[in-house]
Amino acid sequence: GGLPPFVNEPMADFTRREQREAFPRAIAGVRKQLGKTYPLFIGGRDVPTGDTLPTVNPSNPAEVLGTICQAGVAEVGGAIAAAKAALPAWRDTEPRVRAEYLLKAAAAARRRIFELSAWQVLEIGKQWDQAYADVGEAIDFLEYYAREMVRLGKPQRVGNAPGELNHYLYQPKGVAAVIAPWNFPLAISMGMVSAAIVTGNCVVYKPSGLTSIIGHHLVELFQEAGLPAGVFNFTPGRGSVMGDYLVDHPDISLIAFTGSMEVGLRIIERAAKVHPGQVNVKKIVCEMGGKNAIVIDDDADLDEAVPHVLYSAFGFQGQKCSACSRVIVLDAVYDKFVERLVSMARATTVGSSEDPAHYMGAVADDKAMNSIKEYIEIGRKEGNVLYESPVPAGGGYFVPMTIIDGIRPEHRLAQEEIFGPVLAVMRVKDFDQAIEWANSTRFALTGGVFSRSPEHLEKARREFRVGNLYLNRNNTGALVERQPFGGAQMSGVGTKAGGPDYLLHFMDPRVVTENT
Ligand code: NAD
Ligand code: ALA
Repeated sequence: GGLPPFVNEPMADFTRREQREAFPRAIAGVRKQLGKTYPLFIGGRDVPTGDTLPTVNPSNPAEVLGTICQAGVAEVGGAIAAAKAALPAWRDTEPRVRAEYLLKAAAAARRRIFELSAWQVLEIGKQWDQAYADVGEAIDFLEYYAREMVRLGKPQRVGNAPGELNHYLYQPKGVAAVIAPWNFPLAISMGMVSAAIVTGNCVVYKPSGLTSIIGHHLVELFQEAGLPAGVFNFTPGRGSVMGDYLVDHPDISLIAFTGSMEVGLRIIERAAKVHPGQVNVKKIVCEMGGKNAIVIDDDADLDEAVPHVLYSAFGFQGQKCSACSRVIVLDAVYDKFVERLVSMARATTVGSSEDPAHYMGAVADDKAMNSIKEYIEIGRKEGNVLYESPVPAGGGYFVPMTIIDGIRPEHRLAQEEIFGPVLAVMRVKDFDQAIEWANSTRFALTGGVFSRSPEHLEKARREFRVGNLYLNRNNTGALVERQPFGGAQMSGVGTKAGGPDYLLHFMDPRVVTENT
């Protein structure tokens, strides 16, 4: 029978006592599981390695959560061989049957939703609601791509010439490498992996080293779903040690990457080279960074704009590719908007995400912390610091919530992705200049406009050229199916995760013509 229509997984509702109480209970439950060693998973088997790295709680790095076995080139080679061996049978498995494995993995994730969310609070410092939303989005990708494959899996008849039968159909690319970031550790990994798998490819998956326990959750969910051996292989490892090997390998036909522009462009360049034995031109799905702006028009509803900008800039410590890192404010409302923004920022606190009272938690690691602090110093020189919050003492990777004004397009604070809680405020004379400045970076991922003017909103639709534009709302938190997500320019190659064309990037179309 047909599947019921897709619906997004509901958000957590912490006004409900059972949900509110489930969260600390889940965190306590996760704490009882700390200290495990996580092996690789290749060809359906756990593969331990001698080379390991710890993964820690960024709010309290002395708390070691687990030990992660690291894949070197030998293990990556083994995983690619296992994927290649599993490919013929998986490729010929009916699309509907492949989709069922995704639905089973979604059901498994739903059963563990609080536990999986609690892991994110501890491993990467997500707030409760952000962690729950990430797991919910992973479930959405599984449910949505399962249905998309059922839709695309039926050969379509094309043309209507008499005496001729033409069928348009899709086949997978082959062995896919999936390389994921740490900031949406389950959702983005699961989105790329499930798209590759359901379209009939076999996968070698590399999570970020900062979120490898969460990466291992994919192993657990697909094992619970009963996915055949070799279809999904888990090879955490240092990008610097095994990244190039994975990208260069002649048996890789598709690379799905989400991460920084620097690494994304490197992958695109390396993947263009054809190595001995390689039969496919490598296809690259590549989602990269952002330098996203929200424009505040002179007639904007500030009661709406202020909390939405604060949330877009500082939710999950600003560590979202979608985050607002520039707010461009028309001169006529500048003072009023800035005063209200800073006063709302002052009312928030920074501290461990385990305590839902805090608006902001720790950033990913010491490298991120140091780099963000350097940008705050650059901002101090380029503009004026309007607000710099207190941060908790101790060893956690905390940086202040920071708002800096006096920034113009030529400043580094207006051009470079900081990937942290630093908001640049830019003053413009009118709406035309606001759109010009909004478009003045090499990125084009998300954008926002707060305005009551229909003409200005229309102009923004036409000229504010980002992948995801939000009018009169925050510019993070795209939902599967409702806001297919991805950017243009240096933000990505034009793919839309959670949208109707996404799976097409993971397959080649074929046409079969029969003379009847
Ligand atoms: P990153 O580029 O540092 O790392 C991403 C992945 O690439 C990691 O798994 C890393 O180990 C791996 N890697 C590193 N060097 C490699 C190499 N030489 N070859 C192959 N793989 C290698 O990014 P990050 O710090 O994990 O994530 C943050 C970045 O991701 C930000 O720039 C953010 O904007 C971007 N991002 C974009 C989107 C989007 O949809 N556009 C979504 C989330 C994050
Ligand atoms: N899809 C994520 C968001 O929209 C990155 O915030």
